[in-house]
Amino acid sequence: MNIYAHRGFSGKYPENTMIAFQQAYELGVDGIELDVQMTKDGELVVIHDERIERTTDGIGYVKDFLYRQLRCFDAGSWFDERFAGERIPALVEVLDWASEQKRAITLNIELKNDTIHYPNLEEKVLKLLDAYTMPHRIVLSSFRPSSLVHLRQLSNTIPLAVLVEGEKRGVNHVAQSIQAEEIHGDPTFLFTPYGQEMSKYMDICVYTINDAQLFTKVAKQRVKAIMTDYPDRFFSHGR
Ligand code: G3P
Ligand code: CA
Repeated sequence: MNIYAHRGFSGKYPENTMIAFQQAYELGVDGIELDVQMTKDGELVVIHDERIERTTDGIGYVKDFLYRQLRCFDAGSWFDERFAGERIPALVEVLDWASEQKRAITLNIELKNDTIHYPNLEEKVLKLLDAYTMPHRIVLSSFRPSSLVHLRQLSNTIPLAVLVEGEKRGVNHVAQSIQAEEIHGDPTFLFTPYGQEMSKYMDICVYTINDAQLFTKVAKQRVKAIMTDYPDRFFSHGR
């Protein structure tokens, strides 16, 4: 079973920052998950929330800032003063960094468009990815089925994952219609009869597993990967 760092090594470093990605990579993770939103001037940026106050010293929506304004905010101090000066990365910065890393991992880029609809987000992400040849496997995911359908219309080849939370029936139809590589579900999804059935014929990645007991339970299932904020906790288990 693979171990993916959720928002980078976010248990010990500020989530979705370059240091969190670097530390996850150095630890030896199989994959890194990260979240993408879009600024007012159309820059793809790596941050989980639509608003910036939880993880920076600024206030407001990502979509209301120009990229150069967003870069002024500190994305590290909220976590620990030791990380003061970390910035909200642009997706291009993460891809540049990843393309320089020799060991191939999976980069799971989640399009954070489940509540806000960012115009042309799908086109922009694919266009940016087109500019790179890197060793890493890219998987794009979203909670918004229409976004996944749009991505598939734009690209026959990009690997896609359907994101699901809880028992949400019909995921198999979405997955089938977009030829999804994977389902990314939470443990509630995995342990429903529906999730159990789906795990027989789809690759399932489970988020977000930070607890050892839950890890042990999930590791007994047919699961491709778990996403965790603490990849260091699970390297000695079940690999
Ligand atoms: O991709 C799995 C997981 O990251 C989805 O939930 O809220 O952490 O982005 P969230
Ligand atoms: Ca995510």
